[in-house]
Amino acid sequence: MNELNKIEEFIIEQLEKADSEYLIEKIRVYALGKKGKITQIMRSLSGMSIDERKSFGKEINNLKSKISELINAKRLLIQSVDLEKKLKSESLDLTLPINLESNGNIHPVSQVFQEVSLIFSDMGFDIAEGPDIEDDWHNFTALNIPPEHPARQMHDTFYIKKENDFDSETAEVLRTHTSPVQVRTMLQTKPPINIIVPGRTYRSDSDQTHTPMFHQVEGLVIDEKSHMGHLKGCLVEFVKKFFNIEKINYRFRPSYFPFTEPSAEMDIGCVREGNKIELGGDKNWLEILGCGMVNPVVLENCGVDSRKYQGFAFGMGIDRIAMLKYGMSDLRSFFDSDLRWLKHFGFSQFDFPPDSRRRSF
Ligand code: DAH
Repeated sequence: MNELNKIEEFIIEQLEKADSEYLIEKIRVYALGKKGKITQIMRSLSGMSIDERKSFGKEINNLKSKISELINAKRLLIQSVDLEKKLKSESLDLTLPINLESNGNIHPVSQVFQEVSLIFSDMGFDIAEGPDIEDDWHNFTALNIPPEHPARQMHDTFYIKKENDFDSETAEVLRTHTSPVQVRTMLQTKPPINIIVPGRTYRSDSDQTHTPMFHQVEGLVIDEKSHMGHLKGCLVEFVKKFFNIEKINYRFRPSYFPFTEPSAEMDIGCVREGNKIELGGDKNWLEILGCGMVNPVVLENCGVDSRKYQGFAFGMGIDRIAMLKYGMSDLRSFFDSDLRWLKHFGFSQFDFPPDSRRRSF
């Protein structure tokens, strides 16, 4: 047996025994590394005569490719065995009962979004969405709040700076209310329209009852005959279902919004004691939403014929009605990501559908 056969036999024997990638690498270095056995023999070719080089060179080259193929094959084999072992050890038993204790919770805002959507869906409303970053026209001008209108000051708007754009109509803002989705819907759909728009809104304001990002739900109904009576009926029905109280005290107070005419605010009766507010009675009143008949100017701005169509709209603070229903006193804690708070006020995934339940602590 010549020298090459011996080396070959030895390497193959080692490869057969090797059972880890680490050992395979060691064998590769032993055979084919810079100072490896086969590499050294190849180097010695330079000292041989041309004829010797021809025959021996071929032999050594064949051995080199054979060994590297064997090494690669064995490496792949070991990798697939390792993977198989890993998959086996990490397998999940899907039949195991879930651990309710370690589940994440549904945030009260998400829960209330679901509750509100469910109640209005039952009344025949569809759900619409719009972008959080709005242009000035959709957020203000189309809603009958032209530049310089005093109502713009009420909104503490976050403006988005765009370089070299001096056109106020295309200036971008973080939407200050969900009302621009009324505009987008009317521009794209023919009446009759029945939508609600749950979503995020932004204003530069922060205290116990205000956060820079908050949530609203907008409502819009456009057809040929809806009037204030329908608006009232719809909102009273909603409030009863949402708070799960059959006899609720409420009042509609005249108000002003540029996009509705006439406009009103809805208050519900409550009792306030310190930081605590309890629903019921008519000792104190709490404003929960703004509403009114859609201003014909807005209809025309959105391409809707105001001689044929009319309708009503409303806008409500989601966080505020969540606080009221579930007894939370500081809006800022909604967004603190404090796990103790989330655990206490959060909901389980299985609390759905939730419209008929109230939480008491
Ligand atoms: N957009 C108003 C706000 O954010 C709320 C509102 C009031 C919406 C009256 C309406 C409405 O659709 O009719 O303060």
